[in-house]
Amino acid sequence: MNNQNYVYLKVEQNGWVMTLTLLREAKLNAMNSAMMAELTDCFRRIHDRSDVRVVILTGSGKAFMAGADIEEYSGFDLGAFFSFQNKGREMYRAIEECPKPVIAAVNGYALGGGFEIVLACDMVVASEKAKFGLPEVNLGLVPGGGGVQKALRAVGPYAAKEMLMTGRFLTAQEGLDLRIINQVTSPDQLLEVATALAQTIAEKAPLAVQGLKKLVNEGRDASLETAQAYDRAYLANLFYSTDAQEGIAAFVEKRPPVFVGK
Ligand code: COA
Repeated sequence: MNNQNYVYLKVEQNGWVMTLTLLREAKLNAMNSAMMAELTDCFRRIHDRSDVRVVILTGSGKAFMAGADIEEYSGFDLGAFFSFQNKGREMYRAIEECPKPVIAAVNGYALGGGFEIVLACDMVVASEKAKFGLPEVNLGLVPGGGGVQKALRAVGPYAAKEMLMTGRFLTAQEGLDLRIINQVTSPDQLLEVATALAQTIAEKAPLAVQGLKKLVNEGRDASLETAQAYDRAYLANLFYSTDAQEGIAAFVEKRPPVFVGK
């Protein structure tokens, strides 16, 4: 699939790790319909690729993504606007339903839909130059891609309401303090740090990693009892997997495991 004639997306693979770079630098990677369709297509293709274990998503230039393309939807009627919003929701769902962990490597502005993408990713590494925000209030709107509810769940009601009602951009350090960023790096080390994190995860047993993504995502909004029942069911299914048997045997035999994703 690599590059698949995408216009707004560069696809590179290095071992188990696939790096996707948004390519609309002159417009701060603002997300138009074509970019959304390419991202959705790309994540759906990654879904079943056994040679891809972890994905990194980053932006070109000074932005990760400055949100949905305001110019594109400025002339829309309500039907067209909602069809545009639905394409965005399909794209966020493709990231969340992709069984492979997705690491956002945030190089600059992650605003509106760009921040909603970050909230759909599984881990976040940010450059010291990154800026995060949901500035839809400045347009007289509210976020349409899940940002309100996801920000609430990620940072709690007080910080979420301040972000949403002021539209203020947060620094990477503030994101770290709010626990929506895993690591902050210098701009020139961003991809190196994201790749090292991806590589560490790629060396683990893929079915266990994929299960952890699903269990955390599904458990977040379930009752504790239900979520723990999901955990137990997944563990029971994993026990006789080739990789679990290999991991247990390798520990007993005091050797490194070799995981094959089965
Ligand atoms: N949609 C469409 N175009 C956008 C865009 C967006 N969300 N964000 C930036 N751009 C375009 C600008 O219109 C400009 O295009 P031009 O050079 O053809 O005029 C180009 O990207 C560069 O942006 P510019 O505003 O000149 O850069 P800046 O460094 O002065 O400001 C921002 C950067 C991010 C503060 C500013 O671009 C901004 O506020 N963008 C909108 C953010 C937003 O509201 N996102 C939520 C959308 S729902």
